[in-house]
Amino acid sequence: MIVNAAHAIAETMDEGTEPKGTITLTTRKAGKAAEVRIADTGAGIPEAIRHRVFDPFFTTKGVGKGTGQGLAIARTVIVEKHGGSIDIEPNPGGGTVFVIRLPLVATNPAAPDACASAKEAA
Ligand SMILES: Nc1ncnc2c1ncn2[C@@H]1O[C@H](COP(=O)(O)OP(=O)(O)OP(=O)(O)O)[C@@H](O)[C@H]1O
Ligand SMILES: [Mg+2]
Repeated sequence: MIVNAAHAIAETMDEGTEPKGTITLTTRKAGKAAEVRIADTGAGIPEAIRHRVFDPFFTTKGVGKGTGQGLAIARTVIVEKHGGSIDIEPNPGGGTVFVIRLPLVATNPAAPDACASAKEAA
């Protein structure tokens, strides 16, 4: 997701509109969840494709630059495996914020299994 942020910033630099970009990572406890925010000052995600960015193989990048797997994998890990959420918000002033929330106490039936296999592996 940080590489995505860097790509989105590079896009605006190609257009010559921004001399430099910023990626801001913040973490906090939000109720019963750990919240991670990844904010960039990049090109932003047009409303028309916002609902598709988590689809496997959906990419707007050229051949050799993106396969469209990153966000699909992120969603599988965060939402399905850990019972969390990922949301997209516009970054005030331009760009995108991805908001990840991970429950501090497992609520998803998949999560205890994940913990159990992690313990077995240890
Ligand atoms: N921070 C962002 N700013 C603007 N657009 C983004 C951002 N993150 C994702 N996108 C859009 O969502 C699409 C899907 O992202 P995803 O990470 O799944 O695939 P990708 O980056 O194209 O390829 P891969 O991650 O497999 O290398 C991107 O092609 C891009 O259009
Ligand atoms: Mg990506």
